[in-house]
Amino acid sequence: MVTASVPPSAELHLHIEGTLEPELVLALAERNGVELPYRDAAQLRAQYEFTDLQSFLDLYYANMAVLRTVEDFADMTRAYLARAAAGGVRHAEIMVDPQAHLVRGVDLETCIGGIAGVLETSEEEFGVSTLLVAAFLRDRPADEALGVLEDLLAMDAPIVGIGLDSAEVGYPPSLFVALYERARAAGLRRIAHAGEEGPPSYVWEALDLLGAERIDHGIRSLEDPALVDRLVTERTPLTVCPLSNVRLRAVDTLGDHPLPEMLRRGLNVSVHSDDPAYFGGYLDDAVGAVTRTFDLSVADRARLAANSVRSAFLPPARRDALLEEIEEWAAG
Ligand code: ADE
Ligand code: ZN
Repeated sequence: MVTASVPPSAELHLHIEGTLEPELVLALAERNGVELPYRDAAQLRAQYEFTDLQSFLDLYYANMAVLRTVEDFADMTRAYLARAAAGGVRHAEIMVDPQAHLVRGVDLETCIGGIAGVLETSEEEFGVSTLLVAAFLRDRPADEALGVLEDLLAMDAPIVGIGLDSAEVGYPPSLFVALYERARAAGLRRIAHAGEEGPPSYVWEALDLLGAERIDHGIRSLEDPALVDRLVTERTPLTVCPLSNVRLRAVDTLGDHPLPEMLRRGLNVSVHSDDPAYFGGYLDDAVGAVTRTFDLSVADRARLAANSVRSAFLPPARRDALLEEIEEWAAG
């Protein structure tokens, strides 16, 4: 048997709103009577020339205007799961940005309900087990985030944990200590974006002040040898998104990406897609790109995939079954 080009993997860094493909943006705009400043998908795609994180976020939030109903959120989620499954994703921990919808007048029942309704049957329908993570926007007030978390808890939202995302520089993790303390008390898992554009000190803060169990991105950790030692010792998962880092100019080219150095240093890294509709590819595209660029072996790719599965918030039986699938993949 020939080894399939991508191993079975867990997608751990995925913003569901970042999976809105231009064609779906336009279809939802039409369905909901939302006026957009683009004639067609090609014209929208032509806007995807980003200079940094903020230039992307401006478009990412603007396109969310088309998400109005439970059905819209469900259609977006179904489209993602179908595409992810085709690319070898067997488990996905999916972030949603509730505040980005609340500020537009779309309530939690609509956004969480639309997504969670599809996730409930994702394993039977798509072969992808899923968990939902509520991400909080660090460039909005911390007390607003705390209020939204209370509302999510009050409605018994089916979330496994919380994340922290949006514009990073100037919004350190230390602003969100109370939010993460509340999440911990409620038994939720804790993740945070840190070290994407922000300095290594933000990664330290995410670990020490927020109790983050997993760091999204974390690429700037390499600038601080003591931080690298800590991350290696504690095997802290870093969910690295190489295509995102190139498109948002955190690195100049894929060949300049620190992924090989992170692997060499013994960091617990795995590869993910972040916002695949905006950054030129889904998980299989990202793995394919780093495989070609860095000439990764089957064993390297199996290690990245196994890291993703071990870093997931999976029950042991599903985790072990997926690790076995990866071993079978590597054996060809
Ligand atoms: N929200 C969606 N994608 C993001 C990213 N790459 N960094 C921070 N916030 C985000
Ligand atoms: Zn992200």
